[in-house]
Amino acid sequence: MSGPIRARLTGVGGYLPRTVVTNDDLAQKIDTSDEWIRTRTGITQRHIVSGDETTASMAAEAARQALEQAGVNADDVDAILVATSTPDQVFPAVATQVQALLGITRGFGFDISAACSGFVYALASANSFIQSGLAKKVLVIGSEVFSRLLDWNDRTTCVLFGDGAGAVLLEAGAEDGEGVLSTHLHSDGRSGDILYVDGAVGCAGTTQHLKMLGREVFRHAVVKLSQAVDEALEANNLTGQDIQWLVPHQANLRIIDGMAKKLALPSDRVVVTVDRHANTSAASIPLALNEAVRDGRIQKGDLVLMEALGGGLTWGSALVRM
Ligand code: ACO
Repeated sequence: MSGPIRARLTGVGGYLPRTVVTNDDLAQKIDTSDEWIRTRTGITQRHIVSGDETTASMAAEAARQALEQAGVNADDVDAILVATSTPDQVFPAVATQVQALLGITRGFGFDISAACSGFVYALASANSFIQSGLAKKVLVIGSEVFSRLLDWNDRTTCVLFGDGAGAVLLEAGAEDGEGVLSTHLHSDGRSGDILYVDGAVGCAGTTQHLKMLGREVFRHAVVKLSQAVDEALEANNLTGQDIQWLVPHQANLRIIDGMAKKLALPSDRVVVTVDRHANTSAASIPLALNEAVRDGRIQKGDLVLMEALGGGLTWGSALVRM
């Protein structure tokens, strides 16, 4: 008798906008400095969209790369899940735009809104679709144009974010102990007011800018990410020592270092992109994964722990054997 259906991760991809904005570039426009940004966050630069770059175009390019690496035809994709807080349009969903850009005319696609935790939410959802037999091949994408949400005169937020997209392909058919081992999702709406976008289309009197109480978010991140990591380890009877790679949401180097310390992971086992990408919200984990798989750091068989916290609050973790 065959075991339960399990999902494995067979391809990764990423896209970063052509335009790079350094901390010094920002310091020419607002009252900040490279030193302040670097020491508080680890960020030195970010990519920002220009010209024809959109949430959908970046998502489609990242997805194309993931399919190519997996050796899978776009036509064989059953579902596309795009985690984003910055769709190009209210609808159609970015996922269906990606479907059209890739020439896919079957299956289904929709977007997931869970802010910076979006990729973990999308991965968990795709995994469930595969486990239930609803889909066999699912593109899981995080794509964001946070530069559109920022108040570029607010130095407390605009220095922290960047644009980009990352993607993975999940396919049914993992062996026991391989692929997505477990996912863990949480949210608590009571803290919605510490990190949010003020309004949406049609909300009169709103700025539609990102607002954040940075210290409060930091405090929640340290506690809740710790809990999510413990949960993933406990669910699989593992300890921090068993983890080969931490691929965290890239919000702030201090938060990332704190999680590595908790797991007793040396820094060369933690994938860091926040220095060059800044916080790309739902795109940050797949972008980091893409980088470390393509440069050969993450190898087949490695145990990878992902974790994220974002507006909502939402948070979660996922454990994947590559
Ligand atoms: N440049 C120069 N000075 C600045 C800047 C800036 N860009 N931004 C704020 N300051 C000033 C403040 O005005 C303040 O000045 P004051 O003391 O004269 O009032 C001073 O720097 C300290 O400000 P704090 O907000 O207290 O700085 P803090 O050390 O807490 O760092 C930061 C701020 C980096 C946002 C930190 O709180 C943080 O990382 N929080 C986590 C939030 C986060 O990462 N959010 C991302 C989205 S959520 C997620 O993805 C997890």
